[in-house]
Amino acid sequence: MAQAHTRILGTSFVVGEHCVKNDALSKICDTSDEWIRERSGIEQRYYVEEGVSTSELGFRASQKALEDAKVSPQEIDYLVFATMTPDYFFPGCGSIVQAKLGLGNIPALDLRQQCTGFIYGLQICDALVRAGMARRLLFIGAEVHTGFMPWSKKAVEIILGRSHEELPKEERDWNTKFRDRTVLFGDAAGAMVLGPADDPSRGLLGFALHSDGSKVESLYVPSAGMAYRPYVSEVHCREGRHVPVMDGRTVFKMAVSKMPEVVREVCRLAAVTVEDIDLLIAHQANLRINEAVQRSLGLPDSRVYNNIQRYGNTTAATIPIAYDECKRSGRIKPGDLLCFAGLGAGFHWGAALMRE
Ligand code: ACO
Repeated sequence: MAQAHTRILGTSFVVGEHCVKNDALSKICDTSDEWIRERSGIEQRYYVEEGVSTSELGFRASQKALEDAKVSPQEIDYLVFATMTPDYFFPGCGSIVQAKLGLGNIPALDLRQQCTGFIYGLQICDALVRAGMARRLLFIGAEVHTGFMPWSKKAVEIILGRSHEELPKEERDWNTKFRDRTVLFGDAAGAMVLGPADDPSRGLLGFALHSDGSKVESLYVPSAGMAYRPYVSEVHCREGRHVPVMDGRTVFKMAVSKMPEVVREVCRLAAVTVEDIDLLIAHQANLRINEAVQRSLGLPDSRVYNNIQRYGNTTAATIPIAYDECKRSGRIKPGDLLCFAGLGAGFHWGAALMRE
């Protein structure tokens, strides 16, 4: 008998409470709606109210995903949480959400694969199901990026439209130093319930995953780590080393070369062709990256989905959000071949194929 594949049984997502248009960011640093749209495709993103954490967003999305899957919290036997913005340095968010949802003492695993967290997590979930170690998994990808933003409380109030003051030039200049990164990210969470498929022809078909640690410094947070004593310091904050460093061009080049490569690889492994893909859902880091990947793969617009315009880059949450939107809008139909692909800090990259 063919071994059961893993299927997505239900999904949902939530975003931060505040919708922030590009123009709001130009009030606190030297940027413009035109620059952000042209370079990234982003028109707006969502920020949480201060105090709303990654685990809280994950919890909210999970409640809705459980409802969607018609699965009760008591049925969940494994939790996987992917994030690069956990509530605390340790522990991760998995056990926090486990307790908030009242899941009992089931295993709660945290993953640190940044923008590829979703693909890596999906493979772990699939492996657990196929090994018979879990039957109802809750998989969450969530981020609160606003904690990284080196902004004063006053700057945040201006962005949210609750203050009409102007920032002093010195503070504006400080914010401008980080503008290539701060304009890209948003806060959100996606959640999925996974389990074995009844029909062996449906579900996750295969994965291709890779890592390359030789370029860590192209995309990383240079402070708040045990490479330093103490691991976080006032000097580091003054130097802005708690904010992610990104060599945008290197990341861009890696993404446009590695993502098409890994999509072709996963197709080869599953004995299908790129032409067979009904819908490509790639990580949403930059619309220009995804357009280049689409061109390289020769896929028409009808077979690619992007929503970075509305959410910005939400790291581990991008693919589950896009999947949920496509499912609800009828863009995904039973029997469709879906491909998920992503690349992010580490570097880690990968692709997965799934028959809906
Ligand atoms: N507003 C206005 N001007 C800006 C901004 C901004 N927000 N950011 C940078 N600029 C300026 C720069 O200072 C530079 O000015 P200069 O020519 O006077 O020096 C000019 O715009 C061009 O800057 P570049 O960095 O060369 O711009 P580029 O075309 O490379 O676009 C971007 C930058 C959007 C970041 C792009 O490189 C990119 O998207 N890279 C990939 C990002 C990504 O995928 N990140 C990974 C996700 S995160 C994760 O995995 C954890």
